[in-house]
Amino acid sequence: MKRLLLSMVFLLTAGIPTIAEDGHQLWLRMQPNEGGVRVACTAATPTAGIAADELRRYWRGTPDISLSLNAQMTDDDGFAISRTPSGGLLIEAARDRGLLYAAYHLLRQQETGQPVNPTEQHPAFGLRLLNHWDNLDGSIERGYAGRSIFWRNHSPLLTPHSSLLRDYARANASIGINGTVLNNVNASPRMLATEYLDSVRMIADVLRPYGISVFLSVNFASPMTVAVEGVNGGKPLTTADPLDRQVAQWWKAKTDEIYRLIPDFGGFLVKANSEGQPGPGDYKRTHAEGANMLADAIAPHGGIVMWRAFVYGYHEGNTDRVMKAAAEFKPLDGQFRKNVIIQIKNGPLDFQPREPYSPLFDQLKQTPMMPELQITQEYLGQSRHLVYLGPMWQEFFSFVSSAMPAIAGVANIGLDDNWCGHHFSQANWYVFGRMAWNPTLSSEQIAREWLQQTFSNDEHFLVPMTWVMQTSHETCVDYMMPLGLHHIFKGDHHYGPEPEGNQPNFPDEWKPVWYHKAAKDGIGFNRSTHGGTGASQQYRAPYNQLFDNVETCPEEYLLWFHHLPWTFRMADGQTLWQNLQRHYRHGVEMVDSYVDVWQQMRPYVDSRRFREVGDRLNHQQANARQWRDHCIGYFRQFAE
Ligand code: GCU
Repeated sequence: MKRLLLSMVFLLTAGIPTIAEDGHQLWLRMQPNEGGVRVACTAATPTAGIAADELRRYWRGTPDISLSLNAQMTDDDGFAISRTPSGGLLIEAARDRGLLYAAYHLLRQQETGQPVNPTEQHPAFGLRLLNHWDNLDGSIERGYAGRSIFWRNHSPLLTPHSSLLRDYARANASIGINGTVLNNVNASPRMLATEYLDSVRMIADVLRPYGISVFLSVNFASPMTVAVEGVNGGKPLTTADPLDRQVAQWWKAKTDEIYRLIPDFGGFLVKANSEGQPGPGDYKRTHAEGANMLADAIAPHGGIVMWRAFVYGYHEGNTDRVMKAAAEFKPLDGQFRKNVIIQIKNGPLDFQPREPYSPLFDQLKQTPMMPELQITQEYLGQSRHLVYLGPMWQEFFSFVSSAMPAIAGVANIGLDDNWCGHHFSQANWYVFGRMAWNPTLSSEQIAREWLQQTFSNDEHFLVPMTWVMQTSHETCVDYMMPLGLHHIFKGDHHYGPEPEGNQPNFPDEWKPVWYHKAAKDGIGFNRSTHGGTGASQQYRAPYNQLFDNVETCPEEYLLWFHHLPWTFRMADGQTLWQNLQRHYRHGVEMVDSYVDVWQQMRPYVDSRRFREVGDRLNHQQANARQWRDHCIGYFRQFAE
C-alpha cells in the first residue's frame, strides 16, 4: 500500500495524470499553496472574506496582497489591481463582489501561466445570469446532465447538499456570474407558494456570500392558484388580468412577502403568451401592460422584471415565425417601465445550430434589452456532442452591441458528477461567464484558458484541443444544418434529423418541411423581399440589404433567407446541391479527426475523463454520419 502511494505521488509530481477525475472540480483544480501568503482584507463582509480565503489557500505569487473597498471607483462589479511600493499587490473595488472577481482573476492568471500586471476591469453586462429550466419535482426541461441541483420532489435539495450549492456558487463566482433564476420559464404557479419561497430563502442564503442573487420565473396566472393573505379574503383570484385592481394587489403583497424573506431578491423572469403559457394577452392586454403591473409591484424593492420576447402564435396561418417577436414588441417600444428588460434569444427562431441574430435587437430603441443565450445545447447535440459555443456567441456579438444592462444563459447544469454531462460542455458554462464579463475576449483565448485549467498546460494538448474546440461549432452546423437550413429535427426531443417531418396535426411552425421547403424547384426559406416574407427588412442597414440580396447574403445564412434552385452557383463554383453535400461530408470528416486527435491525448488526461470523452466522441461520430446520410438521402429525391 505504501509503495502504491509512493508511486502515485511520484507519478503525480512527474505530471502524468494517473488518478481518475470525475470532472466535479470543473476548471477549479488549483492545488493549495504551502501557506505563508499574507493576505490583508479591510472589507469585513462574507464575500470579501471568501476572496481573501481563496488567495490565502491557492495563491503562490507575491507574498503580500491587500484587498480593500474603494468608494471612488466606478460603482459596478469591477476591480483594479496595482503594485504597492513594497512589491505587494493591492486589490481595490467599489463592491465586495469586485474583490472576489479580482481574486479569481489572479488565480486564473496563475493557473494559465499569465503575468500578473496592474489592471482595471469592469464587466460589460451589469447582470450576468444563469437561467435554470428546473422544475419543482426535480426534472429539468432540456436538461441533459441529471436532475436539478436545487429541487427534489418539491423540496429544496439543501441538506446535505448545501456543499454542492456552495461549489456551484463558487464556480459561478470564478467566472463572474452574479445572478441565477432558480426555476423553469414554463413556471409552476406553486413556485410562489410560501413553502417554496422559504426554500428559495435557504438557497439564497447559500449563494449570497458568492455574490449571487436569486431570481424566479413566474407564471403570469399565479394569482389564480396561490392564495395570499389579505387579498380576496385569502382565496385565489378568478382572474390574472393585469389591469384588475386585486391582481395588482396580489402581486404587490406577494412581492412584499418575497422581500421579507430575501431582501436582496433580484426579480422576476416571465414567459407570457408563448407556447401555451398564460399572459396579459388572455385578457386582451399588451405585453407592456402585463410587464408594467409586475414592475410596479417590484420597483419599491429595487427588483426588475425580465420579460421574454420568445413569442409566436400557433394558429396564425403561414406567417413567418421568425418575424413575430419584432412584430409584437416593436409597437410597444417606449411603453415599458424603467425596471423592465426585454429578454431576447440570440436568434429569431429558437437556439438553432446557427441563426442570424434576432432583428428585435435592432427594433427596440427606448426599451432595455438583454440577450438570452442557450448554454445547454438543446439543438447542438445536447450533452453528447462536443460543441463549443464560444465561436457562435462571438459571431452574435459581431452583430449585436453589448451595450445592454444584462445577459442570461440557459444553464446546462445538473446532478451528474461532472455537472454538465459532457466534460467539454463545462466549457460552455465557462465561456458564457467569461463573455458576459467581456464579450470582446476571443473565443479561442477562452477555450485555451479553459483547457489549461480543466485538463493540462502542455502545449501538445492545448494546440490540438483548442483547434478541436474552435472548429467544433462550424462542424456541428456542417453535419446538422449547413448553409442556413434550420429546424429539421426529429420529434420534440430536438436531437436527430427528420427532414421529412410533416405531421399533419402539427402547426407549420413545428414542421421541418415548412422550414427547408425542399422541392424540385430548389431549397430554402424565402425571407427576402423578392417574393418572400420580407423578414430581411426587420434588420438595420446594411444587413437588410445584405441579407435580402442573394449576391451579398453570407453563405452561412443563404437558405435562411433564400429559396434557390439546386443548380444555383455558389462562390466556389459548385452548384448548391454539390456544395450542400460537401458541407455534410466535411462535418463528418471533422468529427472523424476529433476522434483521432483525442486518441493522441491519452498522456495528458486522466483515465476516467479520457474514456468518457472518447465514448461521447464515438457517439457523436455515429450521429454525424446519420445526419449526413439521412439528409443527403432525403434531399437527393428533389435535387437529382
Ligand atoms: C424551446 C424549448 C422549450 C422551451 C422554449 C422556451 O422551444 O424547446 O423547451 O420552453 O424554447 O425558451 O421558452
